[in-house]
Amino acid sequence: MKIALAKGRLGEDALLKFQEIGLLKSVDLNSRKLIFTTKDYELLLLKPSDVIVYVRNGKADLGVVGSDVVMEGNYGVYELLDLKFGICRFSIAAPKDTDVMGKSCLRVATKYPNVTRQYLNEQNIEIIPLQGSVELAPKAGLSDCIVDLVETGKTLQANDLEIIKDLCDVSARLICNPSSYRFLQSELSDLVEALSHD
Ligand code: PRP
Repeated sequence: MKIALAKGRLGEDALLKFQEIGLLKSVDLNSRKLIFTTKDYELLLLKPSDVIVYVRNGKADLGVVGSDVVMEGNYGVYELLDLKFGICRFSIAAPKDTDVMGKSCLRVATKYPNVTRQYLNEQNIEIIPLQGSVELAPKAGLSDCIVDLVETGKTLQANDLEIIKDLCDVSARLICNPSSYRFLQSELSDLVEALSHD
């Protein structure tokens, strides 16, 4: 079975979870290797945004991504398990003491245009898509508010923003492509069972 993990914190937490149930013990994330082969598994180490690309193209049977990624794209992958780490939330935030929600057209900067449209569908909005540092946009006059992930809230605080509304919870998910789901049913159900108990 091929598993795609993201380099970085989410991948490290995911690997720990697999190692806790006795899998992928020999994998050393500090080596520069991008592929590890054990008796039953092959581990691919990827950029976070590429994990879903490998899974949806069938080049990995399984992957671990944040539920934000699954929500934003219409990827046609199956979510097998909420792994209960990488916990954060989607929130709308705006400069402190401003009444942005009363505006007739709200300019929203975000890395998540689809999620934003889904949650602000009753509001007249203009979406300003960005790749990162979204918290800068209101201060720079580019947007009235942002929709972004909030974990500790420190980035908001450091940029004089406050939460107007929390939209939904986000956490790491075990994902699978439909064809692997069909052909590896019993292996996958054993794996999900083992991971759920921990
Ligand atoms: C994420 C997210 C927020 C920040 C939230 O950004 O988009 O900016 O983390 O974390 P906090 O609530 O703990 O401060 P990321 O680190 O991925 O960088 P980016 O802004 O370049 O996307």
